[in-house]
Amino acid sequence: MRKGTALVTGAGRGLGAAIARRLSAEGWPVVVNDLDQAAAEGLADDIARAGGRALAVGVDATDPAQVATMVQWAREHFGPVLVTVANASGPQGEVPVEELSWAYMLRHFEFFTKSPLALLHAAVPDMRAARWGRVVHIGSDLFDRADPGWSAYMAAKGALLGLTRGWALELGTDGITVNLVAPGWIPVERHGAIPPEVAERWLGRQAVPRWGTPDDVAGAVAYLTSEDAGFISGQRIVVNGGFHFA
Ligand SMILES: NC(=O)c1ccc[n+]([C@@H]2O[C@H](COP(=O)([O-])OP(=O)(O)OC[C@H]3O[C@@H](n4cnc5c(N)ncnc54)[C@H](O)[C@@H]3O)[C@@H](O)[C@H]2O)c1
Repeated sequence: MRKGTALVTGAGRGLGAAIARRLSAEGWPVVVNDLDQAAAEGLADDIARAGGRALAVGVDATDPAQVATMVQWAREHFGPVLVTVANASGPQGEVPVEELSWAYMLRHFEFFTKSPLALLHAAVPDMRAARWGRVVHIGSDLFDRADPGWSAYMAAKGALLGLTRGWALELGTDGITVNLVAPGWIPVERHGAIPPEVAERWLGRQAVPRWGTPDDVAGAVAYLTSEDAGFISGQRIVVNGGFHFA
């Protein structure tokens, strides 16, 4: 096990919370970032109660200065940041093309390109010094299958895949891998109750006919951050139960 810190953005709830818990279970001290400070603190307390070490940091993951400060705090608390997971997301929803504004698109690019870049810039000196690092981006399978009203989200997640492949190529000689996990629809707190007819239609399109869980996504992240995954870089793992169109 490497001596260092794992940092997960947007980890106060949803997929990020499961990822942070899992990385802690794998033995990493974890920085739980979320704009919602109370949610981040709640999760950090849970992790501590389970025997892990966690630091809650309520900063804006899309602001490079705040991200740099967070990484500095992480270093001071737990040591070099060797694992980063860019997971944070703002509000999402359907916007038809006629109503699509550049401001709305830019907000998506801030979460899915600007924030991962800020995180990489802040943490890469630690990874280079250790000659070991794991960068994981949370994408989406929506980039492949498309849904009406989601073009800004798809474009930004597609851009994140491009960054994943490019950075993998540039950082591989330093022992740093860069990969993307692309979840399908994984119900989390924000989805609320799903009507039975929607569930039936959706699950009927998956090879594995059950809802995916945040732990399914966390498992893929844990693998990509492990020693075993050192020869995997620039890749995308889709975690969607084999969703298909037929
Ligand atoms: N849940 C799914 O079905 C699904 C599917 C595909 C991809 N994803 C991706 O997984 C990631 C997590 O999704 P989720 O469903 O858990 O979302 P979520 O909305 O439940 O969680 C996102 C978290 O990010 C936090 N956040 C918002 N703005 C922030 C900021 N500026 N700085 C720091 N934190 C901030 C929120 O407070 C929230 O806790 C996102 O990138 C999303 O696009 C989710």
